Amino acid sequence: FNVKEKHKMQVSLLVFKCKWPQFDKCVSLLIYTGPEGEKAWPKKYPFCGGVFQSPIDFHKDILQYDSNLLPLEFIGYNVSSTDQFTLTNNGHSVKMYLSPTMYIRNLPFEYTASQLHLHWGNRNKSEGSEHTISGKHFAAELHIVHYNSEKYPDIMTAMDKADGLAVLAILLEIGPFNPSYEKIFRHFRNVKYKDQTVQVPGFNIRELLPDRLDEYYRYEGSLTTPPCYPSVLWTVFRHPVKISQKQLLALETAMYCTESDDPEPLEMVNNFRNVQEFHERLVFTSFHEGKLYEHFYVKKQCIINLKY
Ligand SMILES: *[C@@H]1O[C@H](CO)[C@@H](O)[C@H](O)[C@H]1NC(C)=O
Ligand SMILES: *[C@@H]1O[C@H](CO)[C@@H](O)[C@H](O)[C@H]1NC(C)=O
Repeated sequence: FNVKEKHKMQVSLLVFKCKWPQFDKCVSLLIYTGPEGEKAWPKKYPFCGGVFQSPIDFHKDILQYDSNLLPLEFIGYNVSSTDQFTLTNNGHSVKMYLSPTMYIRNLPFEYTASQLHLHWGNRNKSEGSEHTISGKHFAAELHIVHYNSEKYPDIMTAMDKADGLAVLAILLEIGPFNPSYEKIFRHFRNVKYKDQTVQVPGFNIRELLPDRLDEYYRYEGSLTTPPCYPSVLWTVFRHPVKISQKQLLALETAMYCTESDDPEPLEMVNNFRNVQEFHERLVFTSFHEGKLYEHFYVKKQCIINLKY
C-alpha cells in the first residue's frame, strides 16, 4: 500500500469502529487524522472553510518588506529546571503547556505563552511542515502559541477573537543532533498514547528558536486545526532549525492517536494541514526578499529590450 491507501484503510476502519455511544469522540478522531481528513473539517467547523486560513505558501508575489517589523523580545522564556512543563499526547499532536510567566513583546499587544506543539509527516515522507516556502515543505514545524493577555483573561476567551492569538512557527529540517529539542523529544516514550502526560523539567525555550530572530514572515491567519478560528497573528521564522535524522524519525514514529488499550492503534503521522488559498492579501517580511533583485533584473531587461 502507499501511504494514502493505508490512510484510507485506517479511516474506514475507524468509521467501522464508530459505535453510537462514542460516536462524537470517534468522529473527532477521524476528522483530525491526515490530509484526507481535513476536507471534512468545514462540515463540522465552518471557519475551516472560511477566510484568513492557515497555513500558506510564502512565494514572492505575496511578500512585502515592512521596515517596522522589529525582532520580538522574549520575556521569561528561560524557565528554571525546578519548574515543570506538562507534556501530553492529545490524540492529534504532542503538546507542552508553557509557563504563564512567559510572554512576547514587540507585537501590537503583549501575548502570554500557552503551549507549544509540533506537526510532522511520516518516516517515508519527511515533509511535515505546515507553512511552505516557494512550494518547499520542511521536515516538521514547531508552533509556540500565545494569547493576547492585555485584552483577554485566558486562551479560551482569546482563541476566537480577531486579535486573540499570536503563534511563532519554527520550521525544522535535518542536520546535526539538537540537544535542545531532545529536552522534549526524550519524553515521547511516556506520551505514546492519547491522554498520557509526563512532566518535563524547565529549560530555556529560546533554545528552540532559530539563532536569527530578526528575519521572519508576518501575516494574519488562523488555527491550523479545527475549529480554525481566524484569530492568529503569525510569525514564521525565515531560518529553519536543524534536528538530526534520528530525532526526526523519533518524532515520526513515537506516538499514536489512539489510547493505550485500543486494539486498532492508529499511528500519529501526517498531522499537518495543507496550504490554504491566499487571495489578494500580503505577507509582510522583516527582511528584503529576492524582490529588490527582481526589480533590478526587470529594469535591466527593459533597458536591453529598449535597445532593440
Ligand atoms: C513506510 O514504508 C514501509 C515500507 O514500504 C511500510 O511498511 C510502512 O507502512 C510505511 N509507513 C508509513 C507510515 O506509511
Ligand atoms: C538561564 O537561567 C539559568 C539559571 O536558571 C542560567 O544559568 C542561564 O545562564 C540562563 N540562560 C540565559 C541564556 O540567560
